[in-house]
Amino acid sequence: MKIGDVEFENPLALAPMAGISDAPFRQLCARLGANMTPTEMITADVMLWGSDKTRYRLRNRDNGLPRIIQIAGYDSEMLSDAAARAEQLGAAIIDINMGCPAKKVCRRLAGSSLLKDPPLVRRITERVVASVTVPVTLKIRTGWCPESRNGVQIARIAEASGIAAVTVHGRTRECRFSGDAEYETIREIKNAVDIPVLANGDVDSPEKARDVLNYTCADGIMIGRAARGRPWIFSEIKKLFAKDDQNTSSLHLLSVRDIILNHLDGLYSFYGESTGVRIGRKHLSWYAQNQDGADVFRDRVVRVETAREQLELTRDFGSFFSREASTARVRSGRERGGEDDQQKKNQDQKEKKSGSSVSRYGGSEQAA
Ligand SMILES: Cc1cc2nc3c(=O)[nH]c(=O)nc-3n(C[C@H](O)[C@H](O)[C@H](O)COP(=O)(O)O)c2cc1C
Repeated sequence: MKIGDVEFENPLALAPMAGISDAPFRQLCARLGANMTPTEMITADVMLWGSDKTRYRLRNRDNGLPRIIQIAGYDSEMLSDAAARAEQLGAAIIDINMGCPAKKVCRRLAGSSLLKDPPLVRRITERVVASVTVPVTLKIRTGWCPESRNGVQIARIAEASGIAAVTVHGRTRECRFSGDAEYETIREIKNAVDIPVLANGDVDSPEKARDVLNYTCADGIMIGRAARGRPWIFSEIKKLFAKDDQNTSSLHLLSVRDIILNHLDGLYSFYGESTGVRIGRKHLSWYAQNQDGADVFRDRVVRVETAREQLELTRDFGSFFSREASTARVRSGRERGGEDDQQKKNQDQKEKKSGSSVSRYGGSEQAA
């Protein structure tokens, strides 16, 4: 797949997830087969780029892939400044977030609330495209609410403005994460534009990735929540696509334990021990989901404070982590929706207290 003049070996993208898809996680997913690994959303307000949160979000770890920086905001001038700055920092692609349903973001008419205002979408996309020399992509939802699924109109505006690809999460802004993602609108969008379209929403198995690609005719697939605790989903999909049952690559043989230990090492070296351990706990809980004995493991892992103890515990429990148990973790969109809605409520409360602006999903990073 090609986005502008940037070529990708396979059409698998890790979704930007604030508080989750940080540089160590992107590096891990890239190693396990993801080919596009955008950053978590970065506020378009460059005055905030010196804050610890944004500095970490912008800090890169070379994962051998073109660097994709996602920006979020509501003002075309701020977004174009941010895009130019991101290009200077080495972005090979700039992604504009118009998919985020955050209340804070939406009150300021950013994220998915921009979909309500197509002329503004045009101004933003034209201006951002004009401010950089690299390809600009757009991430949207199917529309504002089920009665106003204007994804096709937005994608056409994007294409006419010079946007090089569009990713569509198969829910409206109003749906947030509830219900199941629908792929009909993604299929219509794919039909309506010539630029590459990536399908996103509720893809949680290789078979579903194949089915969604077949149904929507999309050029690529983006996976978010299903990669938490199961980053090897990308290698599983690659394997299915290659129809390669005899895959004996060392990657395939890597044990879950080795993948987790490697992830933890990446977190410690990226954030330092204290934050690395805190973020490690959150990922370990995801890795432990659906594994026998998960409760015992979780009870113990939340108590440890040092990298040494966290690694030891993970090694001790190593044999209990299996890919099969993670694969069994196919839960309905409705169930996941509930979980993420709760996460969102917690985050909204935190934001109210802290008065922060373009920060919606970041809750989970503090919740580690
Ligand atoms: C915790 C969390 C954080 C997210 N952060 C972002 C973000 O920073 N930028 C963005 O465009 N979408 C963000 N999303 C939306 C995802 O990129 C994706 O569109 C959504 O989760 C649906 O895909 P999935 O069903 O594969 O998870 C986030 C989602 C979650 C659950």
